[in-house]
Amino acid sequence: MQSLDNKVVVVTGASRGIGAAIVKEFAKEGANVVLAARDRARLAESAAQSGLTRGRFHIVTADITRRSGMKKIVSQTIRKFGRIDIFVNNAGVGVHKSILETSEKEYDGMYDTNMKGVFLSFLEVIPIMKKQKGGQIINISSAAGLRGEPMIAVYASTKAALNALSEGVAREVRNDGIKISVLAPASVATDFAYNFTGEKKPNRASKAKKKLTVDEVAQAVVAMAKDNPNAWTSLSVLRPLSVK
Ligand SMILES: NC(=O)c1ccc[n+]([C@@H]2O[C@H](COP(=O)([O-])OP(=O)(O)OC[C@H]3O[C@@H](n4cnc5c(N)ncnc54)[C@H](OP(=O)(O)O)[C@@H]3O)[C@@H](O)[C@H]2O)c1
Repeated sequence: MQSLDNKVVVVTGASRGIGAAIVKEFAKEGANVVLAARDRARLAESAAQSGLTRGRFHIVTADITRRSGMKKIVSQTIRKFGRIDIFVNNAGVGVHKSILETSEKEYDGMYDTNMKGVFLSFLEVIPIMKKQKGGQIINISSAAGLRGEPMIAVYASTKAALNALSEGVAREVRNDGIKISVLAPASVATDFAYNFTGEKKPNRASKAKKKLTVDEVAQAVVAMAKDNPNAWTSLSVLRPLSVK
């Protein structure tokens, strides 16, 4: 197991939900964290709740669907911390609709965020990790991407495409000491999941138990980052044990 003490970690979609939990989990390990998303106020709140002290975090407001947004995240990270050890592509969007109700705009939004955003991160981050002779990119996919799902068919297809993109690129760069890993969680108790499915958010935590918690997902991300340096987890599927 590798120590994450003083490592430099970038988390996209760090303003809420799973991303905010990932920031907290890396903070506990002693890492420095760059928090990226579009909403500055929510990023500041996420940083404040993470326990990261001044100097150990940096906030970047950026739209990851644009090359300029990705360049901003990467250049500010290098300026502040000098390197990138772990880059977590967590930002993602989804629309819960039948295929005939899904608009072209919604289709483009899901592909631009869930796929193009990750592609842009590869273009900007891999050259830096090649120079460093190492690093890890962790992509948050979804168990829905393992096979098609009704009402979220386009969303699931973005995650299936993400899995294939990640596996292919991972095999291009593994000999440069760069790991590209995918974590595919089943449904997680975030506003995203409830807005997405239209399910009513339960009042009691016990009722939410059939979904994963954001902390369970964040712990799995950190476990991937702590893997033996000579071993690479390519794809890991995370599900709740009990679905009662
Ligand atoms: N919740 C689930 O059930 C579940 C299950 C499996 C996988 N996932 C995946 O887990 C990831 C996080 O999901 P979540 O449930 O935490 O969602 P969430 O609560 O809606 O958070 C999404 C995050 O992505 C950011 N984001 C969205 N579009 C962006 C853009 N263009 N540029 C920069 N940041 C952007 C949002 O920040 P701003 O709005 O501030 O930009 C926010 O921080 C997603 O990739 C999702 O597909 C979720």
